[in-house]
Amino acid sequence: MASLKIDVRTAAIGSPDLVTFFVKGSTPPTGVPPEEFDGAPNSTVLLRDRNHRTLVVGVGEKNKIEADTVRRAAGTAIRQLLKVGSSEVALNLADFAGHAGAAVEGAILASYKFEGFGKDTSKKTRGVLGRLQVLVPEADLAQARTQAREAEIVATIANKMRDIGNLPGNLLNPAILAEKAEELAQNRSLTVKIWNEHHLKRDGFGGILAVGQGSSHPPRLIVLEYRGGAKKDAPVALVGKAITFDTGGISIKPGAQMDEMKWDKMGGLAVLGIMLAAAELKLPLNLVGLIPSAENMPGPDAYRPGDIITTRDGKTIEVLNTDAEGRIILADAIAHARLTYKPSVIVEYSTLTGAVIMALGFQRAGMFTAEEKLREAFIAAGKATGELVWPLPIGEEYKEGVSSEIATVKNIGGREGSACISASFLKTWAEEVPFVHFDIAGTAWTTKPPAHLEGGATGFGIRLTIQALRAGLPV
Ligand code: BES
Ligand code: ZN
Ligand code: ZN
Repeated sequence: MASLKIDVRTAAIGSPDLVTFFVKGSTPPTGVPPEEFDGAPNSTVLLRDRNHRTLVVGVGEKNKIEADTVRRAAGTAIRQLLKVGSSEVALNLADFAGHAGAAVEGAILASYKFEGFGKDTSKKTRGVLGRLQVLVPEADLAQARTQAREAEIVATIANKMRDIGNLPGNLLNPAILAEKAEELAQNRSLTVKIWNEHHLKRDGFGGILAVGQGSSHPPRLIVLEYRGGAKKDAPVALVGKAITFDTGGISIKPGAQMDEMKWDKMGGLAVLGIMLAAAELKLPLNLVGLIPSAENMPGPDAYRPGDIITTRDGKTIEVLNTDAEGRIILADAIAHARLTYKPSVIVEYSTLTGAVIMALGFQRAGMFTAEEKLREAFIAAGKATGELVWPLPIGEEYKEGVSSEIATVKNIGGREGSACISASFLKTWAEEVPFVHFDIAGTAWTTKPPAHLEGGATGFGIRLTIQALRAGLPV
């Protein structure tokens, strides 16, 4: 990724292309007839004089403008300008200095593009954002600079996770993911431990091993620790599913869109991103991130329907469908978090079920928790960051769905309520520890991106969680 220089200033220097934010109902800029542009959110008009461009972007009605309105508008504007070849842009935030962080975030997220592999780019004029100026009134400079710096850290890390996320299964397997995590954690105040297949066997991680045994690329468990809080404070544990490719295994998936299962690792990358960002922001708390990673393949050694697996804490799973693999590797990781770290809360991210997409579509992630205060905290963080979540139930009433005659639980229930049944399956391993499960199957990647984003991995969960952690998780 090309490097981007960001300045927060009172007036532009050089000759950047200018973005102005237009409130519905105000006087249109000179040269724009009111019937052609009313300032609806993310509508744009491009004005040119000589070699200078001004892009006017709508932010809608004044009383409805929130951080995410500005974030999206900034992103939409940057993408428009990059399309016509801009490389230096100034965002005029004269009236929106309080949203400087959101604007910078929007700009950085919008400028992300997966480089791809040897595709023909010769016909594209697309620019690369090299310099971004953020213009605010003098009185707002200090606050806007702090916001911009923090937004830059989080959005840059989110883009890095999108970049790793977009790697296909042949270029990213569990061992490579573990190496990347080690590399990225270096020079930051994070420690990393990697369990390979021998360590996993020694320590009883029967779930991760079972799911990974069909692949010639063996599984890993990646554990990162960050200590920014008091020694005595229990950590927040973050757990993320990183299936580097999900074929379904012996219960193999249909062919259509199976390629999208290269993104079945995005829960794990959310956790990696949160850990990296928390360390760089020096958040005053303790965190542990656990990322179980495997490739789910059919093959002579693959696990099978009917198999019985013993997980890290001795609980057993009757496998009835090898495509419900995420919950099996997560069971091990959640148990390990509980037993080893005595966390105050376990927050878990996974592209777990197609069912959550039926319930919520691609607009919101499903949030499953019995903890009312945590639920409120994440709803608020979602609103602030634009990474929207919606509560779904995880109660005892769903446990019956996975009760097994011969093991602690079976790994599938019926089709009805399957996102909730899956959530209650996971909660079995958290036991009494407060637990939050995010099913990000609908939000972790997009094949129909909105105007302010590139398609592919979204990095969902990173900005949401950093926001919630900074606001202070009620645990
Ligand atoms: N990774 C999939 C879930 C998924 C499906 C995410 C589609 C995004 C889009 C997961 O491992 C899976 O296959 N789940 C099954 C569970 C079923 C077998 C109980 C599902 O949702 O169909
Ligand atoms: Zn699956
Ligand atoms: Zn999966």
